Amino acid sequence: MAAGGNTETSLKIDWSGDDIVRRRETFYAASQRAFVPYQTPLIIKRGRGQYLWDEKDNKYIDLLAMNLCISIGHAHPAVTKAMVEQAEQLSHCTTMFYHPVPAHFAEELTATMPKGEQWVVHFTNSGAEAIDLALLMARSYTGNTDMLALRSSYHGATAGAQSVTGISGFRHNVIQLGGVSFVAEPNQYRGSFGEGVDPYLDDIDRAIHQTTSGQLAGMIIEPVQGYGGIVPMPMGYIAGAFERVRAAGGVCIIDEVQSGFARTGDNFWAFEAHGVTPDIVVMAKGIGNGIPLGAVVAKRAVAEPMAKKFLFHTYGANPVACAVGRAVLKVIQEEKLQENARKVGALLGSRLQELYNKYDFIGDIRGKGLMLAVELVKSRKTREPATELTARVFEETRRQGLVLSKSGPYRSVLRMVPPLCLQADDVDAVVEGLDRAFAKTR
Ligand SMILES: Cc1ncc(COP(=O)(O)O)c(C=O)c1O
Repeated sequence: MAAGGNTETSLKIDWSGDDIVRRRETFYAASQRAFVPYQTPLIIKRGRGQYLWDEKDNKYIDLLAMNLCISIGHAHPAVTKAMVEQAEQLSHCTTMFYHPVPAHFAEELTATMPKGEQWVVHFTNSGAEAIDLALLMARSYTGNTDMLALRSSYHGATAGAQSVTGISGFRHNVIQLGGVSFVAEPNQYRGSFGEGVDPYLDDIDRAIHQTTSGQLAGMIIEPVQGYGGIVPMPMGYIAGAFERVRAAGGVCIIDEVQSGFARTGDNFWAFEAHGVTPDIVVMAKGIGNGIPLGAVVAKRAVAEPMAKKFLFHTYGANPVACAVGRAVLKVIQEEKLQENARKVGALLGSRLQELYNKYDFIGDIRGKGLMLAVELVKSRKTREPATELTARVFEETRRQGLVLSKSGPYRSVLRMVPPLCLQADDVDAVVEGLDRAFAKTR
C-alpha cells in the first residue's frame, strides 16, 4: 500500500457514509460514540502532511492534528518505513525479554531532557496510562498520598487520570479516587483571581494547609492546558508551585502530552521555558505520530522505589511503536520542525490578531508556537463566554475546509494545534477561512 495514497487493503471496507454511520451507531458502545464534534459526522479517508481528505475527496487543513497525535505530519514516509520494517521482523516483544529498539528510543528520549540529571523511561500505550503511572510513582517515592491538580486541566480517561482532571464533562458521576485537591488555574484571561501569579500561588499554600495532610505526593501541571482552552501557565507560576510542592515533600509532575515534542516552538518541552526541572514528565500523542505510545520519563531516584513490586504493561515498549518514536524524533530534528512551529506559529498568531481587530466578539488570542487559541465572548467588557456563537462558527469552519477544535470549560475557545509541518502558505487559507466563518455567523 502506498503511504497515504491508495487506501485499498485486502480487507473489505465499505466507505459509504450511511453505512459507516449505521455501523458505528449499531456496534460502538455509548462511551465511544458520545464524543463527537460536528452536528453531522465527518468521515476522514486519508491524510498527508498537514492535510486531510474526507470520503468525498474534500480537502481540509488539519488544525487539530487528530487531537495532537500527528506531530510530524500525516502518513509521513519515515514513520511508515520504520513501522513496516519493524513489523516485518517482530511486531511485539514484551519487556520480560530484551530488544534493542525500545532501549535505543529510551536513550534518545532521555537526551531531550535537562542535563545534569539521570533520566529513565517507562513506555506505556497511552497518555492516561502514563499519568496513572506518574501518580503511582509519586506516591511510591514520597510515601504520601495527597496530590494537587489544577482546575480546567485534562489528564485522561482512566480512573487515576480522571481523578486529577478538572473539567466536569470528563469527570463521570462516580466516586472518584481520593487524595486529590484542586487549585485555581492561573488563567490570565478569566481565572478566579484575575491576572498575576501570586494569588494563584497563595491558593496552592491554602490548599496544602487546608485540604491536604500537609504532606504531598506531588502536583501535576500542564505547562499549557490543552482541553482547558490553551491556557499557558504564566511565568513564575510553575517555579513557585514546584517550590511549595517540594517544601511539602512532594514531587513535580509535568504533563507534556499536548505541549511537548517541539509544539511550542521555542523549546522541545514547554516546561523548559519556565526554567524548571520536573521530577516526572508524562508524554504521549505526538511521540508516536498517531501510533499508540506514551511514556513516563522520571529522575532515576524517583522511579526507583517502583522496583519493589511488578508493574507490567503488556504492550509497553512495543518495538513497532518505539521504532516509530525514534523516527519521529529524527524527523523533528532533520526537518527542523521546532523552528517551523516557532516561525509559522508566530505568523499565524499575528494574523489572528488582525481578526481580533476586526471582530469584537473575539475576546482573546493566546498561545505559543503551534498551540494557539481564539476565545469568543459575548462582550469584551464582561468576557461572558460566547458558547453558542462558537458552536456556529465551528460548524462553519468545517465548510471552509478547516478542521479545528472547540474547547475550554465553556466550549468557547477555538483551539488550533496542527501538525508541526504547517506551512506559511497555509496560514492565509486558515485566516481567510476563519474570517469567512466569522463573517457568516456573527
Ligand atoms: C494533557 C493531556 N494529558 C493526558 C491525556 C491522556 O492521553 P490519552 O488520551 O492518550 O490517554 C491527554 C489526552 O487528550 C491530554 O490532552
